[in-house]
Amino acid sequence: MSAKVIAIAQAKGGVGKSTLCANLATTFGDVGDTLVIDCDPPQNSLLAWHKVREDIYEETGLTVMKADKPSELLNLLEKEEKNFSYILLDGPPHINPMTRTMTAVSGLVLIPMAPSPVEVWSFEQMDALIGESKSINPKAESRLCWTRVRKRVRSSEYLIEEVRKGSQVKPFACQLTQRVAYLDSFAEGLSVYEWPDTVARAEIWSLFSVVQRLLKKCPDNNLKKRKDIIQFSRS
Ligand SMILES: Nc1ncnc2c1ncn2[C@@H]1O[C@H](COP(=O)(O)OP(=O)(O)OP(=O)(O)O)[C@@H](O)[C@H]1O
Ligand SMILES: [Mg+2]
Repeated sequence: MSAKVIAIAQAKGGVGKSTLCANLATTFGDVGDTLVIDCDPPQNSLLAWHKVREDIYEETGLTVMKADKPSELLNLLEKEEKNFSYILLDGPPHINPMTRTMTAVSGLVLIPMAPSPVEVWSFEQMDALIGESKSINPKAESRLCWTRVRKRVRSSEYLIEEVRKGSQVKPFACQLTQRVAYLDSFAEGLSVYEWPDTVARAEIWSLFSVVQRLLKKCPDNNLKKRKDIIQFSRS
C-alpha cells in the first residue's frame, strides 16, 4: 500500500486551510487509515484541534503528527506512507520551502480561497507555484476550493469568474459557504459532519465525493526524488 498524499496549501493566512483539512481528514478517516501532518509550526492548529478531539473521543479516527521543517516532512512521509491510505498535509500561511515541498510530493494539491480581493491577489503566487511544480511533479493534480462563499453576492460571483478565466488551476464546482458551523465545530475538535448543520455537512460530503473520484487519476505521491525535491524546495 502506498498512501495518497493530499496537500492543502495557500500563499496566505486565514483562508481556511486548516478548516478544510480537518473536515476532509475526518471523512477520509471513515473510509481508510488517515494521517494528518501539521506542517504549520508554531501555530499547529491541526494538532490543537486533534487534542480537543482526543478529549471527546477515545478513538478520533485519525492520526495527527507534525513536521517543523521540510526534511522532517520527507522523513515522516517516507516512514509512514506504507502505513496509511491517505495522508493530508496542512500548510503554512505563505510560500516557503515547506509549501514548495508539499506541492512537490503530493498527488493532489487543494487550494482553498474565499472570493475576497486580498485572497484573490495572493493566489497569483500559488498559481505560479503550481506551474513551477510541474517540472518536478508533472502528473499531480491541483484544484481550487472556493470557501467562505456568500451566495448571491455579486462581487463574489465576479471574482470567482475572473479567477476561472485567468488561472491554470481548475476550481471544484462544489463550494463551501460561509457558515458558523465550520468555526464552532472546529473549536470543539469536530468536523461539520459531526455538527447539526445539514447544509455544511452536505457541502463537505459533496467535496469529499469529488476528491475521492479525483484521487483515482492522481499519482499516489512523489517521494522517489528526494534530492530533487530538496533542491526544488530551496529554489
Ligand atoms: N466555510 C467557513 N465559514 C465560516 N468560517 C470559516 C470557514 N472556513 C474557515 N472559517 C474560519 O476562518 C478562520 C480561518 O480559518 P483557518 O484557520 O482554517 O485558516 P488557515 O488558512 O488555516 O489559517 P492560518 O494560515 O492562520 O493557519 C477561522 O476562524 C475559521 O473558523
Ligand atoms: Mg491553518
